[in-house]
Amino acid sequence: MIKYSWHERLPADTVAEVADLLAEAASYDAEAGFSTAVPDAPASGETSAHLVVSMPPKGERGSAQLDRLPDVGVVAYLRVDISDGVGDVQFVVRPLFRSLGVATLLFELLRDEDLGWASIPNLESIRGWAHGSHPAADRMSARFNGTVADAVFKTIRELGGSRPFVADKTNVEPVLVQEPGSVSAPVVAELHQVTIAPGDRRTLSRLATLFLEPEGGGRLLVGTDPDEASNAAACIAPLNAQGLKRDSLRTLIAQGLLIVQGRGARMAVLYVPPLDEDLLAVSRDLGFVHEQSDLRYVLAIERATSF
Ligand SMILES: CC(C)(COP(=O)(O)OP(=O)(O)OC[C@H]1O[C@@H](n2cnc3c(N)ncnc32)[C@H](O)[C@@H]1OP(=O)(O)O)[C@@H](O)C(=O)NCCC(=O)NCCS
Repeated sequence: MIKYSWHERLPADTVAEVADLLAEAASYDAEAGFSTAVPDAPASGETSAHLVVSMPPKGERGSAQLDRLPDVGVVAYLRVDISDGVGDVQFVVRPLFRSLGVATLLFELLRDEDLGWASIPNLESIRGWAHGSHPAADRMSARFNGTVADAVFKTIRELGGSRPFVADKTNVEPVLVQEPGSVSAPVVAELHQVTIAPGDRRTLSRLATLFLEPEGGGRLLVGTDPDEASNAAACIAPLNAQGLKRDSLRTLIAQGLLIVQGRGARMAVLYVPPLDEDLLAVSRDLGFVHEQSDLRYVLAIERATSF
């Protein structure tokens, strides 16, 4: 049986093991782009809690499948940042131990009135972004009566090589307005970036490099990494583009594509909220294709009612 313990701060003797678990998961999940957790990030809410899940030694796990796996201390890590009764969750299970019921068992145990979620004062619901919409996250949500409350599509467009982006008459020469050096990346959806996969975080972090503000209006952040090989992904993100005519949005993004392609990027990444019809239409028109759906799940916390 797994055991869990809550901590205000990650205990010193588990820091290295949690880091090891997350590094192993990041490498295992890199291609799929699944969510990660960031134990030492600043708190995004009023309070934070860290949950360390341990696995008994081999032979004491109550399952032949689990007993075949190596001895580990920490088998899963969960962090929750609480604000106004809502807990933003980051949760990762060690890859070797996945699909064996660890997350399901943990969430069952967390129904405990005294030790589980209900032990956190005023916590009414929890929510978390599943990047790459992990099938297990979906099944867990169904089992624990969760709902999908938000979504973001990651779309990509190959550049250069055999699929260059070619300017047409609407794609005038790009206008570089300023290179501010440091602009924090725009939020596609609330807290979407907090648990994004490390590879995607690197791509997003490049957004600080360039800032377009052409005649049609709107602004665009684009980012390439001058230190990376030419096949690096570039990220582009419209800012305050709501209300922009579709043609202007198209020109803005086309200019961004020309810039990053000119700088040697071989792929552009654009995050699109599915309800933003203009951005969705423009991204399709410019050759972006859907790469993955990121879904935000919400679960209500059950508490015993006292009469
Ligand atoms: C998502 C995650 C936490 C699930 O942990 P887990 O211990 O593997 O989950 P479980 O074994 O308890 O399985 C949960 C459910 O998913 C199903 N499942 C597990 N792995 C699956 C897979 N690869 N494909 C399809 N379904 C899967 C299980 O059958 C179970 O569903 P059921 O109860 O209806 O049968 C784990 O895969 C993980 O750490 N993923 C990377 C980080 C991440 O995506 N976090 C999500 C944050 S919301």
